[in-house]
Amino acid sequence: MKPFAVIGASSGTGLALVKLLEKNRLPVRAISRKPRAASEFIEPFAADVTDIESISKALTGDFSAVFFTVDIHGFNSRATVRKLMYQGFINTIQAAAKNKTPPKIVLLSVIGSEISSWVWWILNAMKPGMQKNIIDRENALKESGLAYVICRAPKLNDDIKNLTPISASSPTHKLTMNMGISRENLARVLLKAAKAAPENTTWDIIPDKDKSTLGWL
Ligand SMILES: NC(=O)c1ccc[n+]([C@@H]2O[C@H](COP(=O)([O-])OP(=O)(O)OC[C@H]3O[C@@H](n4cnc5c(N)ncnc54)[C@H](OP(=O)(O)O)[C@@H]3O)[C@@H](O)[C@H]2O)c1
Repeated sequence: MKPFAVIGASSGTGLALVKLLEKNRLPVRAISRKPRAASEFIEPFAADVTDIESISKALTGDFSAVFFTVDIHGFNSRATVRKLMYQGFINTIQAAAKNKTPPKIVLLSVIGSEISSWVWWILNAMKPGMQKNIIDRENALKESGLAYVICRAPKLNDDIKNLTPISASSPTHKLTMNMGISRENLARVLLKAAKAAPENTTWDIIPDKDKSTLGWL
């Protein structure tokens, strides 16, 4: 079995995904600047996506899929946010494309990046340029020639008991504070997306109030 690669593996959704892969006895290269401990199925790999050589080394190999779940915290300049959230992703897809068999890229994105909302206004104030970076990196992936699935998430929480049904829906939803899902739940969807979502598609991953889970999910 070819390993998966998770970038942004030391916390949040990336860590939840690494734990899920381990639970399913699936090998994973867990990539971040400060990776966590190794186990039978986890290969920790220290790399920084803002450094093309570093992420190229981390992505050398034959992978089932590469998940990108990196995020930035605290108050940062527009240039710093761009360097990580956009250029870090560009470095990642360029590195992945160098492999003999380029892997499928599963990008964890954010819902409603084309729709104005006061939540985006706040996010852009906290992380300058965030909305544009989210749009630009989705477009870059679509134009990269690599196989991809984009999963757009609403507000995330760590309510591990809340594994209410969620659905993969058309990417038309607005980002609000009223809609949220847990990182554990999202990790399950990302793995399913890597295995079963149609190639080169974009989805909003949202709570499924009608419990009418559709299609590949
Ligand atoms: N928070 C939300 O409500 C929300 C909503 C929708 C979508 N999203 C998206 O979901 C994704 C994950 O968010 P999260 O809150 O679950 O994750 P998170 O806990 O913030 O984790 C971010 C990860 O990125 C890694 N990282 C940061 N800088 C890095 C670098 N230069 N090179 C390599 N790795 C780096 C961190 O590890 P190290 O520090 O060890 O490097 C960490 O593992 C983000 O892309 C975000 O845009 C979030």
